[in-house]
Amino acid sequence: MFDPLFNLKGKRVLVTGGAGSLGTLISKAFAERGADVTIQDLNQERIDDVRKAITSESGKAFSIAADLTDPAECSRVVEEANQLMGGLDIVINTAGINRRKPITEVTEEDFNAIVSVNMKAIYFISQAAHPIMKAAGGGVIVNMSSLSARYSFNTISVYAATKAAVSSITRSTAREWAKDKIRVNCIEPSVIKTDFTKPLWGEPHRTKFFDETTPIGRLSNPEEIIGAVIFLATDASSYITGQSIVIDGGILSGGDWDSYA
Ligand SMILES: NC(=O)c1ccc[n+]([C@@H]2O[C@H](COP(=O)([O-])OP(=O)(O)OC[C@H]3O[C@@H](n4cnc5c(N)ncnc54)[C@H](O)[C@@H]3O)[C@@H](O)[C@H]2O)c1
Repeated sequence: MFDPLFNLKGKRVLVTGGAGSLGTLISKAFAERGADVTIQDLNQERIDDVRKAITSESGKAFSIAADLTDPAECSRVVEEANQLMGGLDIVINTAGINRRKPITEVTEEDFNAIVSVNMKAIYFISQAAHPIMKAAGGGVIVNMSSLSARYSFNTISVYAATKAAVSSITRSTAREWAKDKIRVNCIEPSVIKTDFTKPLWGEPHRTKFFDETTPIGRLSNPEEIIGAVIFLATDASSYITGQSIVIDGGILSGGDWDSYA
């Protein structure tokens, strides 16, 4: 059934970090639904693997290798994506890094590296997309924040701070650009089972911790965030802007005091 609410046919989408675990899934999910996709990531070979996987299924995909820690590269990526696809309707800001360390061991270099990808790149990719989307009469931006924007764990202090910044940048850009018909939202997932987070769930005591403290009783699989991204990228969410969707299996819903009986 064709559903106009979730229609992505012919939409032109830029996915940053598009060769990562979630970026690959997101790029494929948009292409499968008829969107043209430009995949950006650091490594050309990894991006080309994703692009080929999409084009072999008759999807339309392009690739751009770039390091988004440089705002000039953010501009170049957005301009090239716009040229390659003949327009830019949707940006999914997925690129992100983490270096897990206790606060007492974080160096200035660690701090700057995490801020440069997670916070600065989203800011300048969005800034570069704004004039293109405004001139075209509107657009949509979906940012990858994290539950850690509001609920931290040991060793992720800088990452958590940058994700709180992503949720904040989401509100600021939504506020300033609503008049230009650009909607900006983010998702805040808890730990998703990807390579990125394997150090967090790879050991039995940590899996036990997540299974016992998450009301749904398990961590999420990567496929379980796709629905929210598509919802926020399409007309199904046409009156929603500046929001964060928490995808946490119920963690923020509350605690279980009877487990101490
Ligand atoms: N996996 C999770 O549990 C989880 C939970 C909440 C939020 N997130 C967020 O989702 C996003 C994707 O996570 P993932 O699990 O797919 O991680 P991932 O490491 O598989 O993907 C991130 C991608 O970003 C790219 N990247 C890193 N530095 C870059 C730079 N300087 N310029 C351009 N690209 C760069 C990497 O090459 C990688 O392909 C991240 O922003 C992450 O913070 C992930």
